[in-house]
Amino acid sequence: MLNETQKKKEKWKIQSQKKHPICGFGLNCKKMVFLVQLLMILCHQASSLKEWDGVVITQADYQGLQAFKNELIDPKGYLRSWNDSGFGACSGGWAGIKCAKGQVIVIQLPWKSLGGRITEKISQFQALRKLSLHDNFISGLIPTSLGFLPNLRGVQLFNNRLSGSIPPSLGLCPLLQTLDLSHNSLTGTIPPSLANSTRLYWVNLSYNSLQGQVPRELTRSNRLTLLALQYNNLSESLPTDLGKLSNLRTLDLSHNFIKGSLPSSISNMSSLNTLNLESNNLVGHLPENIGNLHNLSMLNLRRNRIDGQIPQSIGNLSSLKHLDLSFNDFKGEIPNSLSDLLTLSFLNVSYNKLSGSVPVELSQEFNSSSFIGNLQLCGFSPSNPCQSQAPSPSFGISEEAKRGRKLSIKDIILIAAGTLLVIMLILCCILLYCLIRKRRGVSKKEGEGAAVVGRAPRAEKGAPSGGQEVEAGEAGGKLVHFDGPMVFTADDLLCATAEIMGKSTYGTVYKATLEDGSEVAVKRLREKITKGQKEFEAEVNLLGKIRHPNLLALRAYYLGPKGEKLLVFDYIPKGSLATFLHARGPETRIDWPTRMRMIQGMARGLFHLHNNENIIHGNLTSSNVLIDDNNNAKISDYGLSRLMTASAAANVIATAGALGYRAPELSKLKKANTKTDVYSLGVIILELLTGKSPGEAMNGVDLPQWVASIVKEEWTNEVFDLELMKDASTIGDELLNTLKLGLHCVDPSPSSRPEIQQVLQQLEEIRTVDAVTATTSGDDGGGDPSASE
Ligand SMILES: *[C@@H]1O[C@H](CO)[C@@H](O)[C@H](O)[C@H]1NC(C)=O
Ligand SMILES: *[C@@H]1O[C@H](CO)[C@@H](O)[C@H](O)[C@H]1NC(C)=O
Ligand SMILES: *[C@@H]1O[C@H](CO)[C@@H](O)[C@H](O)[C@H]1NC(C)=O
Ligand SMILES: *[C@@H]1O[C@H](CO)[C@@H](O)[C@H](O)[C@H]1NC(C)=O
Ligand SMILES: *[C@@H]1O[C@H](CO)[C@@H](O)[C@H](O)[C@H]1NC(C)=O
Ligand SMILES: *[C@@H]1O[C@H](CO)[C@@H](O)[C@H](O)[C@H]1NC(C)=O
Ligand SMILES: *[C@@H]1O[C@H](CO)[C@@H](O)[C@H](O)[C@H]1NC(C)=O
Ligand SMILES: *[C@@H]1O[C@H](CO)[C@@H](O)[C@H](O)[C@H]1NC(C)=O
Ligand SMILES: *[C@@H]1O[C@H](CO)[C@@H](O)[C@H](O)[C@H]1NC(C)=O
Repeated sequence: MLNETQKKKEKWKIQSQKKHPICGFGLNCKKMVFLVQLLMILCHQASSLKEWDGVVITQADYQGLQAFKNELIDPKGYLRSWNDSGFGACSGGWAGIKCAKGQVIVIQLPWKSLGGRITEKISQFQALRKLSLHDNFISGLIPTSLGFLPNLRGVQLFNNRLSGSIPPSLGLCPLLQTLDLSHNSLTGTIPPSLANSTRLYWVNLSYNSLQGQVPRELTRSNRLTLLALQYNNLSESLPTDLGKLSNLRTLDLSHNFIKGSLPSSISNMSSLNTLNLESNNLVGHLPENIGNLHNLSMLNLRRNRIDGQIPQSIGNLSSLKHLDLSFNDFKGEIPNSLSDLLTLSFLNVSYNKLSGSVPVELSQEFNSSSFIGNLQLCGFSPSNPCQSQAPSPSFGISEEAKRGRKLSIKDIILIAAGTLLVIMLILCCILLYCLIRKRRGVSKKEGEGAAVVGRAPRAEKGAPSGGQEVEAGEAGGKLVHFDGPMVFTADDLLCATAEIMGKSTYGTVYKATLEDGSEVAVKRLREKITKGQKEFEAEVNLLGKIRHPNLLALRAYYLGPKGEKLLVFDYIPKGSLATFLHARGPETRIDWPTRMRMIQGMARGLFHLHNNENIIHGNLTSSNVLIDDNNNAKISDYGLSRLMTASAAANVIATAGALGYRAPELSKLKKANTKTDVYSLGVIILELLTGKSPGEAMNGVDLPQWVASIVKEEWTNEVFDLELMKDASTIGDELLNTLKLGLHCVDPSPSSRPEIQQVLQQLEEIRTVDAVTATTSGDDGGGDPSASE
């Protein structure tokens, strides 16, 4: 992998060498013959560049090489050939050394596992042109005396462990052309004196910890074609006369902390091919004259705070292939001129404040992932068409409001009818249930203080099978433990006092307190709707193996002699997200980091289900998400539909609809899929952002519609939970971007919704929260370690 990129790098340099002749630079074993020829033609002293010109090495250079070797660590013995008293040094006998007239002109020892340091005695090599020690483990400082080498042209020290700062003396090398110190641990500032090396054309200092600013002086280096400073800690703003670098082809300053705005002089960089400023703190506008950069093929401004309009002149960038303006504050419409760019093959303007309609050509060429996260933008996917005639704003609003009112009346009737139906259904169910129970002669009471099921005959421990602890009761009852921490017998379970926690289509959930005081949650499944015993056991044994910090673990199950089916889970005292969020006292605040942690937890849990377990939840609601003592979200009720008959599963989907979590297409489809789960997650995200329950009537529209309608009228801040707005100044962007993501998840068109891994990835981009580790949640006991992230 590393080798591969390295090869590319070398190749690039050979190409660049054709344009910029330098002696002894860019040697590559495979192309040695070609290069030797090239050197012969290019160098002034071509005649002296034979491997052995018959001149024995000078005393100064010989001593220099001794010192050089002494300070290096050579674990693989590459320098073993440096053994004689100097005869071999200039006759090709010493690895990595080339001479001219008895003086060392090239030291080239890349990929030799060398450690140690570079000696200050390097100043002995007064004829040295090239020092190439890249891809070793060399540490220590870059010797200051490097600056006293009048012939030095190329310095390749990348991929080492050099520390300290870049010696300003390097600016004293009048002939220095290439300087690559990338991927070391260099600190300090970039010395302005580098500008005094007027031949410099290639500077790569990326992947260090350099601080301070891009020195103004560097704009004097008008031969520069490459300036790569990405992944450093540079701050301050860019020099205003950056545009003087008229030969610069690549400017990469990405992943720094650069402030201020883009200098308008940038339009004078007529050779610029690649401009990468991703992940900085740039503000201000994109200069209108950016359109002058006719050779620009890559423009990346992702993750800054640039605002204003995208200039119309961007359509003049006739070489542009890659345009990334995502995660900025661009406003207004996407200029039509952008569709003139025939070469454009990558476009991302997502997560800005763009509005209006996407030019038709662009919407045909790029899918919605290029445009998402712009609340007022339309026409980039079938699910958000633009109104054919843009009405005047005031008319638009009143029209909207009227429609809203009509809708609400219709909906109220529908909801009333629906509620009646549901109540009748529930009554019927209860009646039926009671009848069945009576006929079976189950006389145990439910509710506070009652046992979960009838007391079973004394149970005996059976032999463990397949990692599971199976305990068979005399009368055919069977308890299967999936893993360690809870040790109880069927008897213990059946004698436990139980408290009803809730009821659902699948059955009733109890909090059971065992005799030793430990608590578990027991779900008693409705017998009528579960699959037959064999199928049931096959499925439940799979569910019992699932372990993930964000999924409620199934610890055991019990099959009663009369067909009762109990599932035993961890008991989570705090209860569900719905209770946590909606049934708290006015003094209990839930801050944004906590909410975000829950959102990310749910996304991780769902990701695990979709991708590692191949399970669709089908019934994700805030009541099915539990909150543990560390405020981690744990999804429950997953996979239960597999234990049920198909009709029961469909029934559950119907219930989710009534609660407001069901994706619209499910009313026809009846079969949940990953995109319907993402929809449900989207509703929960909106629930956490707004503090509103999706079941709450909001003028007769559902939560996603309500949020969308408020956002459309540009009252975006009105949607957020009031207590979140207290911190709006610091978390405003995160709130807005999460809102955009939430709305993306509840897109009416399933194909426009992201998959869960994209949701997770974007959440992590919005805010970095540590993943819940198995140890902190204490929840992975006995589970497959690979199951936790
Ligand atoms: C020096 O090293 C070379 C190459 O490793 C070897 O061939 C030669 O015999 C060595 N000479 C002495 C004097 O050790
Ligand atoms: C600059 O150095 C970095 C790190 O070694 C490397 O990834 C990058 O490709 C280099 N840039 C150029 C243009 O060679
Ligand atoms: C760079 O050159 C300028 C002008 O020739 C000179 O004033 C300055 O001292 C030099 N800087 C260094 C560090 O050599
Ligand atoms: C550079 O920035 C990174 C990320 O903010 C930080 O972890 C690191 O300590 C900084 N290094 C220096 C030398 O300031
Ligand atoms: C671009 O360069 C020209 C000529 O050097 C200069 O007059 C002009 O001010 C520069 N433009 C900007 C925006 O700096
Ligand atoms: C733009 O690129 C073309 C082709 O790579 C090149 O011929 C031309 O000289 C470049 N223009 C400038 C101003 O550098
Ligand atoms: C650049 O764009 C502007 C505005 O779109 C236009 O008026 C101008 O003619 C364009 N210039 C060139 C050289 O294409
Ligand atoms: C959209 O396009 C990108 C790249 O062009 C592709 O990776 C992605 O899968 C596409 N997404 C959809 C939803 O089609
Ligand atoms: C654009 O960026 C967003 C945010 O990172 C990402 O979700 C989307 O997939 C990107 N689209 C393309 C086409 O790269």
